[in-house]
Amino acid sequence: MSKEEIGSHLILGIETSCDETAAAVVENGVTIVSSVVASQIDLHAAYGGVVPEIASREHVKSILPVIDRALKDADKTLDDITAVAVTYGPGLVGALLVGVSAAKGLAAAAGLPLIPVNHLEGHIAASYLTDKTLVPPFLCLIVSGGHATLVEVPSYTRYRTLAQTRDDAPGEAFDKIARSIGLGYPGGPLIERASSGGRCDVFYLPVTHFPDSYDFSFSGVKTAAINAFRKIEREAERESAPWPSSCSQADFAATFQAAIVQALTAHTAAALDDTGHKTLALGGGVSANRKLRESMRAMASSRGVRLIIPPPAYCTDNAAMIASAGYFAWRAGRRAALDLNAVPMAELDEIAGQEEEISVERESVDLHKQAPDWRVGQEVAERGERE
Ligand code: KG4
Ligand code: ZN
Repeated sequence: MSKEEIGSHLILGIETSCDETAAAVVENGVTIVSSVVASQIDLHAAYGGVVPEIASREHVKSILPVIDRALKDADKTLDDITAVAVTYGPGLVGALLVGVSAAKGLAAAAGLPLIPVNHLEGHIAASYLTDKTLVPPFLCLIVSGGHATLVEVPSYTRYRTLAQTRDDAPGEAFDKIARSIGLGYPGGPLIERASSGGRCDVFYLPVTHFPDSYDFSFSGVKTAAINAFRKIEREAERESAPWPSSCSQADFAATFQAAIVQALTAHTAAALDDTGHKTLALGGGVSANRKLRESMRAMASSRGVRLIIPPPAYCTDNAAMIASAGYFAWRAGRRAALDLNAVPMAELDEIAGQEEEISVERESVDLHKQAPDWRVGQEVAERGERE
Protein backbone atom coordinates (compact mmCIF):
# COMPACT_ATOMS: atom_id res chain seq x y z
CA MET A 1 0.00 0.00 0.00
CA SER A 2 1.34 3.41 -0.89
CA LYS A 3 2.00 6.21 1.57
CA GLU A 4 -0.98 8.08 0.13
CA GLU A 5 -3.43 5.25 0.68
CA ILE A 6 -2.30 4.70 4.25
CA GLY A 7 -2.83 8.38 4.87
CA SER A 8 0.31 8.55 6.94
CA HIS A 9 2.76 11.26 6.02
CA LEU A 10 6.13 11.53 7.66
CA ILE A 11 7.89 14.87 7.46
CA LEU A 12 11.61 15.16 8.17
CA GLY A 13 12.18 18.48 9.94
CA ILE A 14 15.53 20.29 10.16
CA GLU A 15 16.31 23.24 12.44
CA THR A 16 19.61 25.15 12.72
CA SER A 17 18.56 28.78 13.22
CA CYS A 18 20.55 29.42 16.40
CA ASP A 19 22.54 27.14 18.70
CA GLU A 20 20.70 23.81 18.46
CA THR A 21 21.24 21.37 15.60
CA ALA A 22 17.98 19.47 15.39
CA ALA A 23 16.23 16.91 13.20
CA ALA A 24 12.95 15.09 13.75
CA VAL A 25 10.40 12.86 12.08
CA VAL A 26 6.75 13.77 12.67
CA GLU A 27 3.66 11.96 11.41
CA ASN A 28 0.74 13.96 10.03
CA GLY A 29 1.83 17.13 11.83
CA VAL A 30 0.90 15.91 15.29
CA THR A 31 2.79 12.75 16.30
CA ILE A 32 6.51 12.88 17.11
CA VAL A 33 8.17 9.72 15.80
CA SER A 34 11.69 10.89 16.65
CA SER A 35 13.30 14.13 17.76
CA VAL A 36 17.02 14.76 18.13
CA VAL A 37 18.52 18.00 19.45
CA ALA A 38 22.31 18.51 19.67
CA SER A 39 22.74 21.54 21.89
CA GLN A 40 25.81 23.79 21.68
CA ILE A 41 24.96 25.61 24.90
CA ASP A 42 28.10 24.46 26.73
CA LEU A 43 30.35 25.83 23.98
CA HIS A 44 28.66 29.25 23.95
CA ALA A 45 28.34 29.48 27.74
CA ALA A 46 32.07 30.30 28.02
CA TYR A 47 31.39 33.48 26.00
CA GLY A 48 28.16 34.45 27.80
CA GLY A 49 26.07 34.19 24.63
CA VAL A 50 25.83 32.62 21.17
CA VAL A 51 28.92 33.19 19.00
CA PRO A 52 27.68 32.99 15.39
CA GLU A 53 30.91 31.57 13.92
CA ILE A 54 31.06 28.81 16.52
CA ALA A 55 27.37 28.05 15.93
CA SER A 56 27.87 27.62 12.16
CA ARG A 57 30.93 25.42 12.63
CA GLU A 58 29.15 23.18 15.13
CA HIS A 59 26.10 22.87 12.90
CA VAL A 60 28.37 21.70 10.06
CA LYS A 61 29.86 19.02 12.35
CA SER A 62 26.52 17.84 13.74
CA ILE A 63 23.96 18.17 10.98
CA LEU A 64 24.46 14.85 9.17
CA PRO A 65 24.84 12.72 12.33
CA VAL A 66 21.76 14.40 13.83
CA ILE A 67 19.63 13.75 10.71
CA ASP A 68 20.93 10.18 10.60
CA ARG A 69 20.04 9.68 14.26
CA ALA A 70 16.52 11.09 13.76
CA LEU A 71 15.87 8.65 10.89
CA LYS A 72 17.37 5.72 12.84
CA ASP A 73 15.38 6.54 16.00
CA ALA A 74 12.24 6.62 13.86
CA ASP A 75 13.31 3.33 12.23
CA LYS A 76 12.79 4.98 8.82
CA THR A 77 14.78 5.77 5.70
CA LEU A 78 14.35 8.64 3.25
CA ASP A 79 12.09 6.31 1.21
CA ASP A 80 9.51 6.55 3.99
CA ILE A 81 9.59 10.36 4.09
CA THR A 82 6.98 12.49 2.30
CA ALA A 83 8.78 15.86 2.43
CA VAL A 84 11.74 17.67 3.98
CA ALA A 85 10.88 20.79 6.01
CA VAL A 86 13.57 23.25 7.03
CA THR A 87 13.81 26.53 8.94
CA TYR A 88 14.85 29.18 6.39
CA GLY A 89 14.62 32.12 8.86
CA PRO A 90 14.65 34.14 10.98
CA GLY A 91 17.96 33.38 12.67
CA LEU A 92 21.72 33.58 12.25
CA VAL A 93 22.53 33.49 8.56
CA GLY A 94 25.52 31.15 8.82
CA ALA A 95 23.59 28.79 11.08
CA LEU A 96 20.46 28.78 8.90
CA LEU A 97 22.53 28.09 5.78
CA VAL A 98 23.76 24.78 7.18
CA GLY A 99 20.23 23.43 7.68
CA VAL A 100 18.95 24.86 4.40
CA SER A 101 21.87 23.34 2.46
CA ALA A 102 21.42 19.94 4.09
CA ALA A 103 17.67 19.99 3.40
CA LYS A 104 18.20 20.97 -0.22
CA GLY A 105 20.74 18.18 -0.67
CA LEU A 106 18.43 15.57 0.81
CA ALA A 107 15.38 16.79 -1.10
CA ALA A 108 17.28 16.79 -4.38
CA ALA A 109 18.91 13.40 -3.81
CA ALA A 110 15.71 11.67 -2.67
CA GLY A 111 13.35 13.53 -5.02
CA LEU A 112 11.31 14.92 -2.13
CA PRO A 113 9.43 18.21 -1.87
CA LEU A 114 11.31 20.90 0.06
CA ILE A 115 9.14 22.90 2.48
CA PRO A 116 10.41 26.25 3.85
CA VAL A 117 9.30 26.92 7.41
CA ASN A 118 9.50 30.17 9.36
CA HIS A 119 11.07 29.52 12.78
CA LEU A 120 8.18 31.28 14.57
CA GLU A 121 5.71 29.17 12.64
CA GLY A 122 7.54 26.21 14.17
CA HIS A 123 7.12 27.57 17.70
CA ILE A 124 3.38 27.93 17.00
CA ALA A 125 3.18 24.37 15.64
CA ALA A 126 4.72 22.95 18.85
CA SER A 127 1.20 23.32 20.24
CA TYR A 128 -0.23 20.91 17.63
CA LEU A 129 2.26 18.34 18.94
CA THR A 130 1.19 19.10 22.51
CA ASP A 131 -2.58 18.89 22.00
CA LYS A 132 -3.60 16.88 18.97
CA THR A 133 -7.13 18.27 19.13
CA LEU A 134 -5.95 21.86 18.67
CA VAL A 135 -7.28 23.48 15.50
CA PRO A 136 -7.13 27.13 14.44
CA PRO A 137 -8.28 29.79 15.09
CA PHE A 138 -6.33 30.64 18.22
CA LEU A 139 -4.02 33.27 19.67
CA CYS A 140 -0.34 32.41 20.21
CA LEU A 141 2.33 34.15 22.25
CA ILE A 142 5.88 33.36 21.14
CA VAL A 143 8.54 34.38 23.65
CA SER A 144 12.17 33.50 23.00
CA GLY A 145 15.70 34.82 22.79
CA GLY A 146 14.77 36.82 19.70
CA HIS A 147 11.03 37.41 19.92
CA ALA A 148 8.01 38.51 21.90
CA THR A 149 5.27 38.14 19.34
CA LEU A 150 1.51 37.86 19.71
CA VAL A 151 0.03 36.18 16.67
CA GLU A 152 -3.49 35.38 15.58
CA VAL A 153 -3.56 32.02 13.83
CA PRO A 154 -6.72 31.99 11.69
CA SER A 155 -5.73 28.79 9.84
CA TYR A 156 -2.83 26.33 9.72
CA THR A 157 -0.65 28.44 7.45
CA ARG A 158 -1.92 31.98 7.96
CA TYR A 159 -0.71 34.37 10.60
CA ARG A 160 -1.59 37.88 11.68
CA THR A 161 0.95 39.54 13.98
CA LEU A 162 -0.81 41.63 16.64
CA ALA A 163 2.20 42.70 18.70
CA GLN A 164 5.96 42.50 18.80
CA THR A 165 8.68 43.79 21.03
CA ARG A 166 9.84 47.28 20.14
CA ASP A 167 13.35 46.58 21.45
CA ASP A 168 14.67 43.54 23.34
CA ALA A 169 13.13 40.07 23.48
CA PRO A 170 12.35 38.68 26.95
CA GLY A 171 14.88 35.84 26.58
CA GLU A 172 17.51 38.41 25.65
CA ALA A 173 16.65 40.38 28.82
CA PHE A 174 16.90 37.22 30.94
CA ASP A 175 20.27 36.42 29.34
CA LYS A 176 21.62 39.94 29.85
CA ILE A 177 20.55 40.19 33.50
CA ALA A 178 21.87 36.72 34.30
CA ARG A 179 25.22 37.71 32.81
CA SER A 180 25.25 41.00 34.75
CA ILE A 181 24.76 39.26 38.08
CA GLY A 182 27.32 36.57 37.25
CA LEU A 183 24.97 33.65 36.69
CA GLY A 184 26.14 32.66 33.19
CA TYR A 185 24.31 31.52 30.05
CA PRO A 186 21.55 30.78 29.12
CA GLY A 187 20.02 33.27 31.53
CA GLY A 188 16.36 32.22 31.58
CA PRO A 189 16.72 28.85 33.29
CA LEU A 190 19.48 30.20 35.59
CA ILE A 191 17.36 33.16 36.75
CA GLU A 192 14.43 30.81 37.23
CA ARG A 193 16.52 28.49 39.41
CA ALA A 194 18.07 31.39 41.35
CA SER A 195 14.63 32.91 42.03
CA SER A 196 13.51 29.99 44.15
CA GLY A 197 12.23 31.24 47.52
CA GLY A 198 12.91 34.89 46.59
CA ARG A 199 10.56 37.82 47.21
CA CYS A 200 9.31 39.35 43.99
CA ASP A 201 8.84 42.96 45.08
CA VAL A 202 12.15 44.09 46.58
CA PHE A 203 12.62 46.98 44.15
CA TYR A 204 10.50 48.76 41.56
CA LEU A 205 10.78 47.80 37.91
CA PRO A 206 8.84 49.67 35.22
CA VAL A 207 6.55 47.59 33.03
CA THR A 208 6.03 49.32 29.69
CA HIS A 209 2.59 49.57 28.06
CA PHE A 210 1.85 51.52 24.88
CA PRO A 211 -1.48 53.19 24.21
CA ASP A 212 -3.56 51.42 21.53
CA SER A 213 -1.01 48.65 21.13
CA TYR A 214 -0.20 45.28 22.67
CA ASP A 215 3.47 45.77 21.78
CA PHE A 216 6.13 44.83 24.30
CA SER A 217 9.27 46.60 25.44
CA PHE A 218 11.89 45.11 27.72
CA SER A 219 14.84 47.47 27.42
CA GLY A 220 13.49 49.76 30.18
CA VAL A 221 13.05 46.93 32.64
CA LYS A 222 16.48 45.58 31.75
CA THR A 223 18.21 48.94 32.31
CA ALA A 224 16.28 49.54 35.54
CA ALA A 225 17.31 46.09 36.81
CA ILE A 226 20.97 46.78 35.99
CA ASN A 227 20.80 50.14 37.82
CA ALA A 228 19.13 48.45 40.81
CA PHE A 229 21.89 45.84 40.80
CA ARG A 230 24.60 48.56 40.92
CA LYS A 231 22.99 50.00 44.05
CA ILE A 232 22.67 46.53 45.56
CA GLU A 233 26.37 45.88 44.80
CA ARG A 234 27.37 49.05 46.66
CA GLU A 235 25.25 48.00 49.64
CA ALA A 236 26.82 44.54 49.55
CA GLU A 237 30.29 46.13 49.54
CA ARG A 238 29.40 48.17 52.62
CA GLU A 239 28.19 45.00 54.35
CA SER A 240 31.21 43.01 53.03
CA ALA A 241 28.86 40.32 51.75
CA PRO A 242 28.13 38.93 48.27
CA TRP A 243 24.53 40.23 48.55
CA PRO A 244 23.22 42.80 51.08
CA SER A 245 20.69 41.95 53.78
CA SER A 246 18.04 43.98 51.92
CA CYS A 247 18.14 41.89 48.74
CA SER A 248 19.37 38.32 48.24
CA GLN A 249 20.23 36.88 44.85
CA ALA A 250 16.92 34.99 45.02
CA ASP A 251 15.04 38.26 45.70
CA PHE A 252 16.74 39.98 42.78
CA ALA A 253 16.06 37.11 40.36
CA ALA A 254 12.44 36.72 41.52
CA THR A 255 11.74 40.46 41.21
CA PHE A 256 13.17 40.64 37.70
CA GLN A 257 11.35 37.48 36.59
CA ALA A 258 8.04 38.79 38.02
CA ALA A 259 8.30 42.03 36.00
CA ILE A 260 8.78 40.12 32.73
CA VAL A 261 5.98 37.68 33.57
CA GLN A 262 3.63 40.54 34.46
CA ALA A 263 4.21 42.38 31.18
CA LEU A 264 3.74 39.23 29.08
CA THR A 265 0.59 38.20 30.94
CA ALA A 266 -1.03 41.66 30.93
CA HIS A 267 -0.54 42.25 27.20
CA THR A 268 -1.75 38.76 26.32
CA ALA A 269 -4.82 39.19 28.55
CA ALA A 270 -5.69 42.48 26.83
CA ALA A 271 -5.35 40.87 23.39
CA LEU A 272 -7.58 37.95 24.45
CA ASP A 273 -10.21 40.33 25.81
CA ASP A 274 -10.24 42.49 22.69
CA THR A 275 -10.12 39.72 20.08
CA GLY A 276 -12.42 37.29 21.90
CA HIS A 277 -10.16 34.28 21.21
CA LYS A 278 -11.04 31.35 23.45
CA THR A 279 -7.83 29.39 22.89
CA LEU A 280 -4.30 30.56 23.75
CA ALA A 281 -1.07 28.74 22.86
CA LEU A 282 2.40 29.59 24.15
CA GLY A 283 5.71 28.85 22.46
CA GLY A 284 9.41 29.71 22.51
CA GLY A 285 12.14 29.16 25.08
CA VAL A 286 10.81 31.64 27.65
CA SER A 287 7.49 29.76 27.82
CA ALA A 288 9.45 27.01 29.60
CA ASN A 289 9.48 29.40 32.59
CA ARG A 290 7.41 28.03 35.46
CA LYS A 291 6.26 31.40 36.80
CA LEU A 292 5.12 32.46 33.34
CA ARG A 293 3.24 29.18 32.90
CA GLU A 294 1.53 29.62 36.29
CA SER A 295 0.63 33.23 35.60
CA MET A 296 -0.78 32.41 32.14
CA ARG A 297 -2.74 29.47 33.59
CA ALA A 298 -4.39 31.72 36.19
CA MET A 299 -5.09 34.45 33.63
CA ALA A 300 -6.56 31.99 31.08
CA SER A 301 -8.67 30.09 33.58
CA SER A 302 -10.19 33.30 34.98
CA ARG A 303 -11.39 34.04 31.42
CA GLY A 304 -12.52 30.53 30.52
CA VAL A 305 -9.75 30.42 27.89
CA ARG A 306 -8.24 27.07 26.91
CA LEU A 307 -4.45 27.20 27.29
CA ILE A 308 -1.88 25.02 25.55
CA ILE A 309 1.75 25.15 26.65
CA PRO A 310 4.22 22.67 25.15
CA PRO A 311 6.46 20.71 27.54
CA PRO A 312 9.72 22.64 28.15
CA ALA A 313 11.71 20.53 25.65
CA TYR A 314 9.29 21.63 22.89
CA CYS A 315 9.23 25.28 24.03
CA THR A 316 12.93 25.63 23.27
CA ASP A 317 14.26 25.06 19.74
CA ASN A 318 13.66 21.63 18.25
CA ALA A 319 12.95 20.18 14.81
CA ALA A 320 9.70 18.36 15.64
CA MET A 321 7.94 21.74 15.62
CA ILE A 322 9.47 22.48 12.20
CA ALA A 323 8.30 19.12 10.85
CA SER A 324 4.80 19.80 12.22
CA ALA A 325 4.59 23.25 10.62
CA GLY A 326 6.11 21.71 7.48
CA TYR A 327 3.33 19.13 7.29
CA PHE A 328 0.58 21.76 7.28
CA ALA A 329 2.51 23.89 4.78
CA TRP A 330 3.01 20.84 2.56
CA ARG A 331 -0.71 20.13 2.75
CA ALA A 332 -1.41 23.72 1.72
CA GLY A 333 0.84 23.39 -1.32
CA ARG A 334 3.87 25.36 -0.17
CA ARG A 335 7.06 24.29 -1.91
CA ALA A 336 10.53 25.80 -2.24
CA ALA A 337 12.74 25.49 -5.28
CA LEU A 338 16.30 24.30 -4.86
CA ASP A 339 17.51 27.88 -4.86
CA LEU A 340 15.90 28.40 -1.43
CA ASN A 341 18.06 30.75 0.60
CA ALA A 342 18.41 31.53 4.30
CA VAL A 343 16.53 34.71 5.26
CA PRO A 344 17.89 36.02 8.59
CA MET A 345 15.06 38.58 9.02
CA ALA A 346 12.19 36.49 7.64
CA GLU A 347 8.78 37.83 8.69
CA LEU A 348 6.01 35.51 9.77
CA ASP A 349 3.25 37.41 7.99
CA GLU A 350 4.94 37.19 4.60
CA ILE A 351 3.74 33.60 4.48
CA ALA A 352 0.13 34.67 4.98
CA GLY A 353 -2.17 34.48 2.02
CA GLN A 354 0.32 32.64 -0.18
CA GLU A 355 -1.40 29.32 0.09
CA GLU A 356 -4.65 27.51 -0.15
CA GLU A 357 -6.76 27.30 3.00
CA ILE A 358 -6.58 23.75 4.26
CA SER A 359 -8.68 21.79 6.64
CA VAL A 360 -7.01 18.81 8.15
CA GLU A 361 -8.96 15.65 7.98
CA ARG A 362 -6.66 12.74 7.39
CA GLU A 363 -7.69 12.20 3.78
CA SER A 364 -5.07 11.03 1.31
CA VAL A 365 -3.27 13.60 -0.75
CA ASP A 366 -1.82 13.16 -4.19
CA LEU A 367 1.87 13.57 -3.62
CA HIS A 368 2.56 13.91 -7.30
CA LYS A 369 0.11 16.74 -7.85
CA GLN A 370 2.12 19.70 -9.11
CA ALA A 371 2.24 22.46 -6.55
CA PRO A 372 3.36 25.99 -7.38
CA ASP A 373 6.93 26.92 -6.63
CA TRP A 374 7.22 29.05 -3.55
CA ARG A 375 10.51 30.85 -3.50
CA VAL A 376 10.85 32.54 -0.18
CA GLY A 377 14.42 33.70 -0.59
CA GLN A 378 13.76 35.17 -4.00
CA GLU A 379 10.63 37.01 -2.91
CA VAL A 380 12.33 38.59 0.06
CA ALA A 381 15.42 39.52 -1.90
CA GLU A 382 13.24 41.24 -4.51
CA ARG A 383 11.28 43.11 -1.88
CA GLY A 384 14.52 44.11 -0.14
CA GLU A 385 15.89 45.59 -3.37
CA ARG A 386 12.77 47.66 -3.91
CA GLU A 387 12.82 49.15 -0.41
O1 KG4 B 1 13.18 29.45 21.56
P1 KG4 B 1 14.59 29.42 22.01
O2 KG4 B 1 15.18 28.08 22.38
O3 KG4 B 1 15.54 30.06 20.94
C1 KG4 B 1 15.18 31.19 20.22
O4 KG4 B 1 14.43 31.04 19.21
O5 KG4 B 1 15.58 32.29 20.68
O6 KG4 B 1 14.69 30.44 23.26
C2 KG4 B 1 15.90 30.64 23.95
C3 KG4 B 1 15.67 31.66 25.03
C4 KG4 B 1 16.93 32.05 25.79
O7 KG4 B 1 17.01 33.46 25.86
C5 KG4 B 1 16.73 31.45 27.18
O8 KG4 B 1 17.34 32.20 28.22
C6 KG4 B 1 15.22 31.46 27.30
O9 KG4 B 1 14.75 31.15 26.01
N1 KG4 B 1 14.74 30.45 28.26
C7 KG4 B 1 14.08 30.76 29.39
C8 KG4 B 1 13.86 29.53 30.07
N2 KG4 B 1 14.38 28.53 29.31
C9 KG4 B 1 14.91 29.11 28.19
N3 KG4 B 1 13.68 31.95 29.88
C10 KG4 B 1 13.06 31.95 31.08
N4 KG4 B 1 12.83 30.82 31.81
C11 KG4 B 1 13.22 29.61 31.33
N5 KG4 B 1 12.99 28.51 32.06
ZN1 ZN C 1 13.24 29.55 18.88
